Amino acid sequence: MRILRKTATAIAAAAAVAGWLASRGDLERAVETVKDDVEAIRERDPAASGMVEALTCYSGLHALLLHRVAHFLHHLGIPLVPRIISQFNRFLTGIEIHPAAEIGKGFFIDHGAGVVIGETTVIGDNVTLYQGVTLGGTGKETGKRHPTLKNNVTIGAGAKVLGSVVIGENAKIGAGAIVIHNVPPNSTVVGNPGRPVRERGRKVGAADVDWTHLPDPVADAMASLVRRVVEMENEFKAAFPEKGPEIEKAQEQGERELDRVFDYYHGSGI
Ligand SMILES: CC(C)(COP(=O)(O)OP(=O)(O)OC[C@H]1O[C@@H](n2cnc3c(N)ncnc32)[C@H](O)[C@@H]1OP(=O)(O)O)[C@@H](O)C(=O)NCCC(=O)NCCS
Repeated sequence: MRILRKTATAIAAAAAVAGWLASRGDLERAVETVKDDVEAIRERDPAASGMVEALTCYSGLHALLLHRVAHFLHHLGIPLVPRIISQFNRFLTGIEIHPAAEIGKGFFIDHGAGVVIGETTVIGDNVTLYQGVTLGGTGKETGKRHPTLKNNVTIGAGAKVLGSVVIGENAKIGAGAIVIHNVPPNSTVVGNPGRPVRERGRKVGAADVDWTHLPDPVADAMASLVRRVVEMENEFKAAFPEKGPEIEKAQEQGERELDRVFDYYHGSGI
């Protein structure tokens, strides 16, 4: 009898909370967010066969849903309860997310365990983290001291992103990387310390395959010397106007010689 009474009370309380949320429009938004979170798993994990599997077998999703509840209560200003939910979440899934952390739509933590997301972290839409990722502080900053991840960022297994750094849109952080500086959009960073191996989709440091426009360091050096000599001649002419005709004669001669050099450079031969 007592159990029945308790169950009825719990159902009534849940219905009251659901009714209150529905009246604020939060329930509708919450349902949409959960749909996006489930869809993210189906899109990004080829092993996920359907909605039921996503809801039952993905600790990343369980952690995210519990976080969304904790975050909601945190925003209402309810003390302690959000932290308790967060710790319960950690016990259940091995994923620790501070209730204040802001997480966008379509967030996916694959495999779960060992992920830590700090208090002032801000995560955009469609971000993917693998197991063992830390979005933490360096221990030296106050206020905003955790990373900001823009939309479509992917962070590989075991990577550590530390401090109030910004990881640009579509950036990838390789497994095991340690990142303590901003990462530009569309780039890939690996290693410790993190270094870019791709920027805007192109390999960093790879050979330039534009064989038709090869650099010519000798011609560049000559052009720079000629520019400098002409400047000096003009300064000289201004300082000693009486030498003007002599200098102009020398300049004309120099130009004729330069023309021959440029003709040779462009293929006519001397
Ligand atoms: C970084 C990553 C996203 C690949 O990006 P990419 O742009 O395709 O880079 P490439 O594979 O062309 O590699 C570029 C260079 O970085 C190196 N590299 C790639 N991943 C690396 C990593 N995690 N750590 C160190 N170096 C790495 C490559 O050896 C290569 O070096 P090279 O140019 O000297 O040969 C991928 O390697 C990675 O780490 N993904 C995370 C996957 C993960 O965590 N899976 C968990 C599943 S459970």
